[in-house]
Amino acid sequence: MRRVKLGVIGVGIQGEGHVICIKSLPNAELIAIADVDEKRARYIAERYGVPKVYRSHEELVRDAEIDAVTIATPDFLHKDPVICAAENGKHILVEKPMATTLEDAKAMASAVRKHNVKLMVNFENRFNPAFVSVKETLDRGEIGKPLYAYIRLSDTIYVPTEMIKWSHKTDVASFLMSHTADLARWYFSDEVHSVYAISKREILKSMGIDTPDMYVALIKFKRGGSAVLESSWILPRSMPSIVDFKLELICSKGTITVDTQKQGVQLFGESTWSYPSFIRLYSIHGRTVGFLREALGHFVDCIAQDREPLVTVEDGLADVKILDAIRESAAKGKPIEL
Ligand SMILES: NC(=O)c1ccc[n+]([C@@H]2O[C@H](COP(=O)([O-])OP(=O)(O)OC[C@H]3O[C@@H](n4cnc5c(N)ncnc54)[C@H](O)[C@@H]3O)[C@@H](O)[C@H]2O)c1
Repeated sequence: MRRVKLGVIGVGIQGEGHVICIKSLPNAELIAIADVDEKRARYIAERYGVPKVYRSHEELVRDAEIDAVTIATPDFLHKDPVICAAENGKHILVEKPMATTLEDAKAMASAVRKHNVKLMVNFENRFNPAFVSVKETLDRGEIGKPLYAYIRLSDTIYVPTEMIKWSHKTDVASFLMSHTADLARWYFSDEVHSVYAISKREILKSMGIDTPDMYVALIKFKRGGSAVLESSWILPRSMPSIVDFKLELICSKGTITVDTQKQGVQLFGESTWSYPSFIRLYSIHGRTVGFLREALGHFVDCIAQDREPLVTVEDGLADVKILDAIRESAAKGKPIEL
């Protein structure tokens, strides 16, 4: 079995997840990590036994031992590591959103095409069992064709105010709707014709974080399907989980719904309660499991077997085009055709 040699660029919260998953994959070898925060990089390297540590993506992508990189830098800092990796012939898994601007996404896509490397955007919900089962139900034709989707993916206010330090340099459309716009494209197997969106900038702005509190977008697909996507970043901290993720997909011969907020366990303390999360990344008696691992495993398999990943650079670019139109529509107060 060929082992794919990898480097991880950006080892914050999500990059640490990449490290854990890569270490658990039988056909992957973690060669190096890079982070501009040297202390964080050293901590991750020591904790997980990573042989090489670099202080920049430029140094890591020049390492001849490395076949492929995963990139988990903040949303607005994906472009330079992607282009640099492509120029050095490395295959790439980049976190969602592919970019926060269409200009960045186009530059990244053209570098990837020019240097003929593979790029997968980590739309990890395409590996989340609940959302995969929806796709398979549709593909089997069990409930007819999709007509209308409602997809809500929201976070509590903890995420933009404490969890990430750069929420003012992205927005809830890039951070959360990137997932739901991708799921809608995947389920409708179609491209977007037009979007009409509204947003609100009040609560976070009043706290000194100048980014919208929420977006609601009505999306029309070319063959007539439609979807409403809703993402908010200001749900109260009292919610029992930081993420609220729900889908309702109305089809010509049935409806399918998903709710991943409760994952089977409800934990009640004396004055608190929570819904612990297991399905994304978990350890069962020392073995790493979860759909983040499945997504990274798929990427590594595609590199080892020279196959196109399930999510391509074109999917990433189409997603950014939708998000860009959503922002434009909300700003102008009118529908935008893509
Ligand atoms: N797929 C998902 O569902 C999912 C979940 C969470 C986060 N994410 C995405 O992952 C990315 C990272 O998010 P996070 O929460 O881990 O952020 P984070 O702030 O915790 O970590 C980002 C890290 O990147 C480092 N960094 C910045 N520029 C760098 C550079 N040029 N080279 C090397 N390191 C650099 C920072 O020092 C930091 O350690 C974001 O794009 C986010 O949207 C995806």
